[in-house]
Amino acid sequence: MCGIVGYVGREEAAPILLDGLARLEYRGYDSAGVAIFDGTKLQVAKTKGRLRALSDMIQGGAAIHGTIGVGHTRWATHGAPSDVNSHPQVSRSGRIAVVHNGIIENYAELKEFLVGQGVGFASETDTEVVAQLIEYFYEGDILKAVGRVLHRIEGAYALGIICADEPERLIAVRKDSPLILGLGDGFSFLASDVTAIIKHTRDVIYMEDGEIAELTREGVKCYNHLLQPVSKETSHVDWEIDAAEKGGYEHFMLKEIMEQPEALRRAIFPRVKDGQVVLEDFTLDDDYVAAIRKIFIVACGSSYHVGMVGKYNLEKLLRIPVEVTLASEFRYMEPIVDEHTLVIVISQSGETLDTMAALREAKALGAKILSIVNVVGSSIARESDVVLYTWAGPEIAVATTKAYSTQLAVIDLLGLYLAKKRGSADDERILTAVRELLMLPSKLEQVLEKQEDIQYFASQYFNHDSIFFIGRNVDYALGLEGSLKLKEISYIHSEAYASGELKHGTISLIEDGTLVVALATYEKLFDKAMSNVVEVRSRGADVLALTTEGREEAMAKNANAIITIPDTDELLLPSLGVAPLQLLAYYIALMRGCDIDKPRNLAKSVTVE
Ligand code: F6R
Repeated sequence: MCGIVGYVGREEAAPILLDGLARLEYRGYDSAGVAIFDGTKLQVAKTKGRLRALSDMIQGGAAIHGTIGVGHTRWATHGAPSDVNSHPQVSRSGRIAVVHNGIIENYAELKEFLVGQGVGFASETDTEVVAQLIEYFYEGDILKAVGRVLHRIEGAYALGIICADEPERLIAVRKDSPLILGLGDGFSFLASDVTAIIKHTRDVIYMEDGEIAELTREGVKCYNHLLQPVSKETSHVDWEIDAAEKGGYEHFMLKEIMEQPEALRRAIFPRVKDGQVVLEDFTLDDDYVAAIRKIFIVACGSSYHVGMVGKYNLEKLLRIPVEVTLASEFRYMEPIVDEHTLVIVISQSGETLDTMAALREAKALGAKILSIVNVVGSSIARESDVVLYTWAGPEIAVATTKAYSTQLAVIDLLGLYLAKKRGSADDERILTAVRELLMLPSKLEQVLEKQEDIQYFASQYFNHDSIFFIGRNVDYALGLEGSLKLKEISYIHSEAYASGELKHGTISLIEDGTLVVALATYEKLFDKAMSNVVEVRSRGADVLALTTEGREEAMAKNANAIITIPDTDELLLPSLGVAPLQLLAYYIALMRGCDIDKPRNLAKSVTVE
């Protein structure tokens, strides 16, 4: 949500900023802009709409010359999407420009104060208040002025600031909203995430909350909120630029679906040694593990769906209660959590605001936090007691695919690891599951080879108005993800239902031709799944069934069409079952002409409540 990029160096800033913003487009935005110092003053260009409009406005960057600037893609919160509300926001003299991700909670009060001082406002944004306030305190040193402003603003923010009177420095500020610094020979960057700058440098500094940084061509200096210098470690990002490019695929989503076997190899293989799961990053001691009485899994969206599968699997393996809760609910529900509760937080971005707030709430109640995160150095990773990275690589499409799959693999690895430590599953059980985990990537490759069959099914069903997903146990959890994938990118109304619940309401919606995707991969409940297929078929539904190889004949008696996946350990079925559902959603959206990688109204990283 919102993207920031800032550059100071020797090259023309405008094309660099436009390129960086293009790489942040996936985060979601509704307007874009840049501010560049042209040798005499700040040149600001900004517009509502897509980045292309901004690029056209400044001729791909050729219309503004200068080697220092900031750029932004905005997702409207305070003030509607419009040219004037777009960022950068400038102070009234035009000397100071600010780009901002997040929300300034006390902006109304600050605005009233500034209006009382005779300051006029052009926009409705909270960000303009920051620009005006910096100017109000400015006495020739932009760093000091920003330092004073930070003591007055409340909320969550990442800021990039440029001042025409000191055109050799950029200022960056981070509090509860991600911001990284990029280091190079003769240049420095600030950015919301690594994808924006990976083309130029892989040496980065992850800013901590409350830190301020000063960027010049010569390098970067970091300070705490009192402007005392702090020393920072430089990290080296080890993925290549290709990981953030489409590489011949029409969409990032399809590329990321196809990358899943490789991503699973990265997530699983280094964590298995001699048939046992070895989690080197797991630092909680054995006494703590033995004393865990309850597990809470907290997450949003698809990560929550991983948590649903995790609940079934962890309860099977550990025989202790596992509660899975939406982070936005956890925050306000007075959860029963103590020092014997392990809270598992799942987040691809590691920046989701609700998940972050739930993490803090759980920590305050005494729980230990184990997070499953994709983005290295993200806020959730930094505030957790233990982090298990998913190593899925950058995920650019808004709809998650490879992050979901690797989260699933990691939660299964965790379950097997804890089961061994607690002695809650016998060695044979663990060995069988681990063996199957190692085969997961190649089995997933077999599933992905069925791409064309799924494309064909999509062509049969893409014009349906409403699609149901039904299943029991892990198949229900899988249905939730299949349904979310479909609705978020194809805009078809869809619901996932626990099959046993159909007759308690939803079955009244089934009529002639309604498409029901029946998930029947879980062997123990196959007969039950079949009864539900019969139930909906007899009310006129078309049924597309997903089951394991060997059961297609039985299923063919009742379903209209069948997709199969190879059989595997019951814990791992959703890891294979999800791929056909991702592909189905993808091809349906493609046939409906949807903007697959950037679905309407959605953002990749949801940093507001
Ligand atoms: C759906 C999707 C979202 C995210 C959710 C949580 O495809 O991507 O539902 O899963 O916004 O995001 P993270 O995992 O970054 O906390």
